[in-house]
Amino acid sequence: MSKLKRTHTCGELGDANAGTEVVLTGWVNSSRDHGGVTFIDLRDRFGITQIVFNPDVGEEVHRKSRELRSEFVIAAAGKVSLRSEETINPNMATGKIEITANNLEILNRSETPPFEISECENITSLEIRLKHRYLDLRRYQMQRNIVFRHKVCQIMRNYFDENRFIEIETPYLTKSTPEGARDYLVPSRVNLGKCYALPQSPQLFKQLLMVSGYDRYFQIVRCFRDEDLRSQRQPEFTQLDLEMSFIDEEDIFEVIENLMVKLFGDLLSVSVSTPFRRIPYSEAMDRYGCDKPDLRFDLEIKDVSDFAPKSDFKVFKGAVESGGQVKGINAKGCSKFSRKDIDDLTAALADFGAKGLAWFKVEEDGTLNSSIAKFFSKEVQDEIAARLEAEPGDLLLFVADTKDVVNASLAQLRINLAKIMGLIKAGDFKFAWIVDFPLFEQESGGGRYNSLHHPFTSPCDADLDKLEEKPLEAKARAYDLVLNGVEMGGGSIRIHNQEIQKKVFNLLDIDEENAKEKFGFLLDGLKYGAPPHGGIALGLDRMVALFLGLEDIREVIPFPKTQRATCMMTNAPSEVEAGQLKELGLRLDE
Ligand code: AMO
Ligand code: AMP
Repeated sequence: MSKLKRTHTCGELGDANAGTEVVLTGWVNSSRDHGGVTFIDLRDRFGITQIVFNPDVGEEVHRKSRELRSEFVIAAAGKVSLRSEETINPNMATGKIEITANNLEILNRSETPPFEISECENITSLEIRLKHRYLDLRRYQMQRNIVFRHKVCQIMRNYFDENRFIEIETPYLTKSTPEGARDYLVPSRVNLGKCYALPQSPQLFKQLLMVSGYDRYFQIVRCFRDEDLRSQRQPEFTQLDLEMSFIDEEDIFEVIENLMVKLFGDLLSVSVSTPFRRIPYSEAMDRYGCDKPDLRFDLEIKDVSDFAPKSDFKVFKGAVESGGQVKGINAKGCSKFSRKDIDDLTAALADFGAKGLAWFKVEEDGTLNSSIAKFFSKEVQDEIAARLEAEPGDLLLFVADTKDVVNASLAQLRINLAKIMGLIKAGDFKFAWIVDFPLFEQESGGGRYNSLHHPFTSPCDADLDKLEEKPLEAKARAYDLVLNGVEMGGGSIRIHNQEIQKKVFNLLDIDEENAKEKFGFLLDGLKYGAPPHGGIALGLDRMVALFLGLEDIREVIPFPKTQRATCMMTNAPSEVEAGQLKELGLRLDE
């Protein structure tokens, strides 16, 4: 018997094709039997088409049609027929037609899958989905996400090509490129005792490409970081990475803003207005408690530390006396929150170090009502209410602690309140550039300095002399792109002067020998006519997830890893054969 060869996909036939003989292939999405007539919904990645097997189709085909189960792979031949008015399915692209089958080939059978492929929602635990990822990826949602990701990359490639960027690959087997995480190491068999590091980013290579004159480089590139994983982090992830020469911050902003306009316009029909808001780091910390504020809602944080000494509330007074802060948020119209509601809000902040959540309800007459109100004079209460622009019906919430704890807890409280209060609208996208970052932060207890971005970030020209005396006051020419409370990308104008680079390494406690060992090739490169340059990298996984309104980047990565950096499907990482280890000169401790 001759094999049936596909003529159309399951997503393309409509009333214009009525009467045509076609062959469709795909997976059985569902099958129903109505008095001897078998209805099959046949699925491929392009769509679903209904196929009807009537009893008069011939004995063999009819018998085979009755064997069909979910996920069997088939080829079906038949004629495109218009559905009767009452059986038209307006929710289906192919809902006006069905195929009246005259032939059927079962190409493969399937065991009963561990979960329903045809279900719309995420129906089972992530663990089971990841274990059988090849089936999970067959689901409509995953196919939509993966195809969407492809389109994002396609638009990016065209955009960068049109803007005279070139895509260049950089090595994966390389030396450590520090981005603040641990390296994944690859031992070398031919150079026993030595390891490559997988790149945490192509940072040093893209800078050297600028030295080589490849102005306007981009790459869609895998990066590897051994770090604590959360829903926004994977041990290997993808960046849109770029670097440009003879530019300043504004040039980077323009390239990225126009890319966002293009992506949002083409893929989501959302018009993005530019330029994006720019928020200095210190302002972001003051008003939102973090450097990646969600700007879809207000709920701004207000500092009331100056009132604490005037109260008798030990928690507030004590925090300020020991160098901390008291800050609060006005939850507008939330004075109806119950004791339990407030307890829940408080409990959710424990992980951020908050030891409690002080609250006041604003009464009809404007007075503050709380178990701790007695510790505050009427005058101080009025001042606090004024600072938080309180009105009757509001709920004022405060955390007193060290600056870091106050910021971290209130940043989280903002988000939790916004969710409870329903302030986040689906399809709302709020961008911002965070700018004027400090160049360094100091480890607690007056310890060593670390780069806030990375060691290759240029200090602001005006702050060069601060490197000697007051390095913590020096600002960096760094910027982050934030969308809806997620850090989508970060970059900087780089140091292109060898002397300044050495000075920064020095401050980071990387002595000359160490610097030479680790970054000698960069320092050497900087000697031979390095142009002024800068760039940025956007997290592609985060970007695609954000565009689709998804919280977990694993929904847009075909084969992601778990929080423990394992792959449920392949069981990587796994033990290796003793012989392999021996060749590499390795012995592994459990
Ligand atoms: P940075 O370290 O800020 O900058 O990384 C850029 C962006 O990459 C994404 N990202 C991640 N996504 C998923 N999982 C991870 N583990 C992960 N880590 C980072 C984030 C982040 O904003 N070389 C510099 C860029 C530059 O200076 O040009 C760099 O890598 O969205
Ligand atoms: P207590 O005196 O411990 O009963 O606390 C009285 C109120 O102050 C409760 O609402 C606590 O949640 C709150 N509270 C306790 N510690 C803090 C803190 N560090 N910051 C803000 N509120 C706190």
